[in-house]
Formats: sequence, C-alpha cells, structure tokens
Amino acid sequence: MKRALFNSRMLIFVFISNLSIWLFRHMKPNYVFVTITQNSNNSYTPYSNECNDRSRLADGWKPVGHTIDEQNLLHNMSIVVAAWPANTKDNIPTVPCLSADGHLLVLSVAASRIRYGISLTFVAVYPTDMKAVLPKHISSHPLASNQQSLWCIFSDGSVTPVYIYDSTYYRERVSLLDCPLSQFANDQLWKLNQTIRVYLASTTTKDRKIPILKAFVKVPVVSITSLNSSQESFTLCTSPLRNKANYLVQWIEFHRLVGFTKFVIYNTTDTDNYLSTVINIYNQKYPGLVDVVQWSFSTLGLADVVSIRYFQVEALHDCLIRYGDQSEWLSAIDLDEYIVPLPPYKTIVDYVQQNFGRRIIGSINLKSQFFCSKNSSKYTPDEKDTNRLTIERFTFRARHLYERGREKYLYRPRFVQYLSIHRQVIGLSKEQPSEKHITIAHYVSMTRLRAMRGCGLNETVKDNSIRNRFVNKVKDVIETLMNKHSNRSIL
Ligand SMILES: *[C@@H]1O[C@H](CO)[C@@H](O)[C@H](O)[C@H]1NC(C)=O
Ligand SMILES: *[C@@H]1O[C@H](CO)[C@@H](O)[C@H](O)[C@H]1NC(C)=O
Ligand SMILES: *[C@@H]1O[C@H](CO)[C@@H](O)[C@H](O)[C@H]1NC(C)=O
Ligand SMILES: *[C@@H]1O[C@H](CO)[C@@H](O)[C@H](O)[C@H]1NC(C)=O
Ligand SMILES: *[C@@H]1O[C@H](CO)[C@@H](O)[C@H](O)[C@H]1NC(C)=O
Ligand SMILES: *[C@@H]1O[C@H](CO)[C@@H](O)[C@H](O)[C@H]1NC(C)=O
Ligand SMILES: *[C@@H]1O[C@H](CO)[C@@H](O)[C@H](O)[C@H]1NC(C)=O
Ligand SMILES: *[C@@H]1O[C@H](CO)[C@@H](O)[C@H](O)[C@H]1NC(C)=O
Repeated sequence: MKRALFNSRMLIFVFISNLSIWLFRHMKPNYVFVTITQNSNNSYTPYSNECNDRSRLADGWKPVGHTIDEQNLLHNMSIVVAAWPANTKDNIPTVPCLSADGHLLVLSVAASRIRYGISLTFVAVYPTDMKAVLPKHISSHPLASNQQSLWCIFSDGSVTPVYIYDSTYYRERVSLLDCPLSQFANDQLWKLNQTIRVYLASTTTKDRKIPILKAFVKVPVVSITSLNSSQESFTLCTSPLRNKANYLVQWIEFHRLVGFTKFVIYNTTDTDNYLSTVINIYNQKYPGLVDVVQWSFSTLGLADVVSIRYFQVEALHDCLIRYGDQSEWLSAIDLDEYIVPLPPYKTIVDYVQQNFGRRIIGSINLKSQFFCSKNSSKYTPDEKDTNRLTIERFTFRARHLYERGREKYLYRPRFVQYLSIHRQVIGLSKEQPSEKHITIAHYVSMTRLRAMRGCGLNETVKDNSIRNRFVNKVKDVIETLMNKHSNRSIL
C-alpha cells in the first residue's frame, strides 16, 4: 500500500556503552543554549510568507550556539534558510545523501512525538563505515560525532541543536542524530499535516555559510487498522528485502492471524516485480495494512559493509522512529522468522495483555527455536517442496533453544530509543517471558542449507506443533486474500 514517505528514509542506532560518555559530554555545566530561536509566538500567522521579510526574522532571534561567532553564523544561516522559497534550487544535497561537507552519510529521516518528547531523527551510517559503503570515486571526510557541531534549521528559520549518538555493537554500527522539533515544525507536521523542509547546518568548519544537507519529512498517515481503539496496534517491519517477496504473503498472513495490524516492507531489490504484485493485491484487499519503505539508495550506489544485511541496523531504527508513534508494540524480523504465541494464547495480543497490560517495559525478549533439516546434510522431499508453506515444510528443530545472542524483541516503542538486531540497546527493562508462552520460530533452511548450532545430526527433535496449529488457518486466509485475484501464480 501506501509508500511510507518520500525518498528520505532512515534509521539508526546506538549503543549503550557510549551513553554515559555521551551524557557526560553533553551535560557539562557550561554547555548552554536556547533551543527555539524565533517565532515562539504560538499563532500560525507569522509562519507563512512573512519569512521573506528579513528584518522581521532578525527581531525574534534568540541566540543559539556556544560562542558569539557560532551564534552569528547560525543566525545568518537561519535568515538565509527562512528566505528560501519552498521549491528553491538551493543546491544542497537531499537525504538520502552524503552531506555537502562530506562528514555525514545520512540514509533517512523521520519525526516522532514519543521520542524525547518531540523530535526529528536522522539515521546515518557510522563514520568509520562511510568510506567502505560509498562508491570508490566519491570522496568523503567521515567525522566522529564528538568532532561535529550540528543544528537543525527549519524553513521558518527556527533552530534547534542536534544531539548525536554513535553506536557500535560488534559489527552493528549506526549513528543517530536527534534534534527537537521547533514549535513551527511541530505545528506544521501534526496540526497542519504538511511536509516540512528541514536543513542540517554545521558549525564544525567556520567557512561554510549554508547548511550541509536538507530533508523533507512527513508524518505517516495512521492507517484504519491501527485506529481501532479496541485493539492494541502491533507493527511488524521486515529486514531489508532482496528478492525474497515470494515468502512474504504467508509471513504476513501468519502474523495477521496472531495479531499484527501493520506491516512495513523495507524494499531493496525486486527484479521480478514480485513484490509489486503482492503489494497491489494487499492494496486492493486491505488498504493501509502494508507499507513499503524504499531502502535501496541506488542514487548513492551504496554497498553495505555486511552485504547480506544491507543497512539492516539502520532500517531497524527507521522502523522504530517512523512507526513508533502509531504502534503500541513493534518488532522487526526476517521472513524466515515467525513470532508464535503458545497455548493457551491464540494471539500475541492476548499474551501481551494478560502478561504485561500497561506495565512500563521496554521489550519482550523472544528466544529462537531453530527449525532445520533432520539430516543437516540434506533436505527431505517435504522440506524441498516450495509449494508448501514454510511452517509446513520444516518440522524438525534444534532440541534446545538457542539462548544467547540470537534473540529478537517485541518492543514498546514508547520506551526504547536505540536498538540492535539481537539486542535492545537502550531503554527500559527487557522482560524475559516464559518459554512456554511465546517463541520465535526461525526457519534457518528456507532458501538454502545452512549449518546452525543445535541442528547437527542427532540433535534435532520432531516438532509438529506450529504446523498443526496454524497451517490450515494460514491457508484459509491466503485463500481469502487471493479470492478476487486471478493471479494465483503469486504463491
Ligand atoms: C503573536 O502574534 C500575533 C499575530 O501576529 C501578534 O498580534 C501578537 O502580538 C504576538 N504576540 C507575541 C507575544 O509576540
Ligand atoms: C553574518 O552576516 C553579516 C551581515 O551579512 C556579516 O557581516 C557577518 O560577517 C556574518 N557573520 C558570520 C559569522 O558569517
Ligand atoms: C493528512 O494528509 C493525508 C494525505 O497527505 C491524508 O490522507 C490524511 O487524511 C490527512 N490527515 C489529517 C488529520 O488531516
Ligand atoms: C476492531 O477490533 C474488533 C475487535 O478485535 C474487530 O471485531 C473489528 O473488526 C475491528 N475493526 C476494524 C475496522 O479493524
Ligand atoms: C501474475 O504474477 C506474475 C508474478 O509476479 C507476474 O509476472 C504477472 O505479470 C502477473 N499477471 C497478472 C495478469 O497480473
Ligand atoms: C522495490 O525496489 C525496486 C528498486 O530497488 C523498485 O524497482 C521496485 O519498484 C520497488 N518495489 C516496490 C513495490 O516499491
Ligand atoms: C544424511 O545425508 C547424507 C547425505 O545424503 C547421508 O550420507 C547420511 O547417511 C544421512 N544421515 C542420516 C542419519 O540419514
Ligand atoms: C547418532 O545416533 C546414532 C544412534 O544413537 C549413533 O549410532 C550415531 O553415531 C550418532 N551420530 C552422531 C553424528 O552423533
């Protein structure tokens, strides 16, 4: 369905070990600034065309910046920005992009009301990875966050400081840049439902008199399904998908059965247009259920350091920031992973309501059950049969849950700020649910034989329970979905 937002996408993330350092750095007592610079007058009228009147702009200015020089530079930049008309050809790169000073590689941007109050978050590639992911001929000058001084300038000239968090967690790295929304930007986005134009300005080098990049931000349209107040809204994002959409319909239909109400597809490549076909069917049958976020960065020619992941950590944060506001619960998993409520719970909605209610928690830790082949060196005919559903094909699993390092999470976006693929990095408590209540079934062998710990010879056990409970129901809902469509080749 609706493509979630224009061409700026983003995500990011950050790690806990850096937090105390970060807090320390930013909380030094001599670090003083005023965040909102002008037009703190709450009525709307001053926002409109009067931005072109430079003398008026100067009137409302309150100093932003650490030094007089910086304040003057920012003031001058805010006047320049406020004077630019909406469709100006300003020659400033637009997200996703490398910043004009080469210091930042920003993949996406989104706004959130529940993140630190109300803020705008840029999701950027971690500085030390920038050279590796950019094409060779593009020169960049990566700078760590503690070497940069950044500011958001909104199109009325209001300025707020950018708080940066570089996150490293083993090979998962990402940078997040958060700035508070000015009153003007907040009103535009949530009261007037408009796309805002925001500039990122740097006072890191004194000689640049205009911002280093810009972005357009819109609040996602809240879908009908998540407006149902009798139900909690559960959002499920995919990892960045590369031509795996043929496993998508059964994955969505299964998770719809267990209670998810919104699906977000991170689309990287779709060479056979399979995804488009699936999306068209959903758009007709269940408008608003499935969003697509374009996650290919083809204009930049980016190749991720870990190529099989394709900016997965960044996508995870994009999902959290973009969909957090409209989701009571949210998760991001792969198409070979299924979140399964165990009896007596029929849905994760039941499970979550009965076990957690409105308790303030950050996430629920989902432990993986790895489904593999009985004989790790070959598939049985049943396992090879791609006409069967994934949950139908594989019924042997590792005897023991793979406890550490491979967890996934069901997050309460309201209470977490930074993520990792297998961890919750910063936020409130991680709840350890009973393994008897909920699990994540991980079908390691969906597309190719893959050796997994716990899946060796003699280590597997037969487990039909997921197949027996769900396979007919999933087939029924797929049938309903496809009813009006002659194109059955999709399955
Ligand atoms: C707010 O804006 C209105 C309309 O432009 C103006 O009449 C009023 O004086 C302003 N108030 C303040 C406190 O600036
Ligand atoms: C700001 O603009 C004024 C007037 O154009 C100029 O004199 C001043 O040098 C500028 N300051 C900075 C820091 O760019
Ligand atoms: C916001 O705009 C979108 C289209 O851009 C529209 O579908 C939606 O109904 C609007 N929401 C409000 C609250 O006006
Ligand atoms: C709202 O939720 C109720 C209870 O789950 C369900 O019966 C109803 O169909 C839902 N309505 C919409 C519009 O999704
Ligand atoms: C049916 O789906 C296939 C596979 O996605 C696609 O190539 C074909 O164009 C579709 N046919 C129709 C009539 O939509
Ligand atoms: C997915 O991305 C590819 C380019 O990478 C694009 O050609 C295709 O149209 C996209 N599909 C959808 C459904 O947005
Ligand atoms: C597993 O498959 C391999 C290769 O086909 C075969 O040599 C081996 O005997 C099989 N092991 C069992 C326990 O079936
Ligand atoms: C698997 O179990 C059988 C029978 O218990 C035993 O003979 C065989 O050596 C075991 N194979 C491995 C690889 O442990």
